[in-house]
Amino acid sequence: MQKISNRYKKYSINKDLIIMENNKKNTQFDVAGFGIATLDYICLVDEVANFNNSIFISDVNFFGGGVVPTALVALQRLGGKSAFVTSLGKDWTGKEIIKGLKKEKIDCSGVDFVDNIHSPFSFVQVTRSLGERAIAFYPGSSSLLKFTERAKYLISKSKILHLDGLKPEENLKAAEFARKHGLKVMIDTNKVMEGTKRLLANADYLILPQSFLYDYTGLKDIKDALLRIKKEYDPEILVVTIGIEGSLALVNNGFLYVKTFKEIERKDTTGAGDVYHGAFLFGIIHGWSVKDIMVFSSAASSIKCMSYGGRNGIPNFDATMRFLKEHDIDIKNFRI
Ligand SMILES: Nc1ncnc2c1ncn2[C@@H]1O[C@H](COP(=O)(O)OP(=O)(O)OP(=O)(O)O)[C@@H](O)[C@H]1O
Ligand SMILES: [Mg+2]
Repeated sequence: MQKISNRYKKYSINKDLIIMENNKKNTQFDVAGFGIATLDYICLVDEVANFNNSIFISDVNFFGGGVVPTALVALQRLGGKSAFVTSLGKDWTGKEIIKGLKKEKIDCSGVDFVDNIHSPFSFVQVTRSLGERAIAFYPGSSSLLKFTERAKYLISKSKILHLDGLKPEENLKAAEFARKHGLKVMIDTNKVMEGTKRLLANADYLILPQSFLYDYTGLKDIKDALLRIKKEYDPEILVVTIGIEGSLALVNNGFLYVKTFKEIERKDTTGAGDVYHGAFLFGIIHGWSVKDIMVFSSAASSIKCMSYGGRNGIPNFDATMRFLKEHDIDIKNFRI
């Protein structure tokens, strides 16, 4: 077999402009998000508790989390407009989740409040010295997430639908509806589930974490795995994020690699992937090239990594431009 690295060594980055011309023009929102929202209880401990020991929590903080809502927070801070659909319980946790989203001016009229079940939360123990994490997740009301009439309305008023793939059947209904109404569909998922395959077939923009790519394809080479996904689904945009190693796209049969900003003073990488997606959505809306969007998204997610919590450090557009300039990157292409 011919070596992939030879076959694809030439980057074709001149024809990678994203054309949104077939997309909808008169819309109320840039992006409608559909997925799970959580509240993360981040507990600072000396050592992680197990069934033999009880421990003291020396500090605790509450942070809103979830792949889709955190991406929407990034989009909003950068200057986009979004609406979010999820399912929450009628409890304090649900109120906190909503408070965090409304603060960012995300339209929350699509949130369904259900009786007799708690909102989703994660209980996260973080060790002070090593920064290790032990996470317990309670899905609660997110198991009742439904593609509602209100979801249909909000999606019909948007340009792009962003999904987490965690309730594949309901995600699929949303994706099919969105495409029928002229929207593009982005999926950020990290779990291979029954129904994932059908869902991926309904995506236009696949920006996937490396771990998902390996789990889904069963392959161990990142380029082989991207080629497999392209062959199977041929999405308009196909990118894999590789943590501190940056991101890699497959564009016009060529690989396009973008480094991230490794030299930052890193504090916490929670939510880096979510922010990368939010920034990517912003770039798509403004019609930038895939390469420019990858650079921009790397900058936004790197800045986020310089603060604790999934959302605290998410930058606005001006801060992202300043950061890019400080790193000697020409910002003339990032026109809004
Ligand atoms: N330590 C880091 N330093 C700088 N940039 C980072 C770092 N970690 C992640 N990034 C940026 O964020 C992007 C997404 O990160 P990553 O691939 O870890 O997402 P993920 O696997 O979806 O993780 P999560 O969703 O848990 O944040 C990377 O492609 C990179 O641009
Ligand atoms: Mg992720």
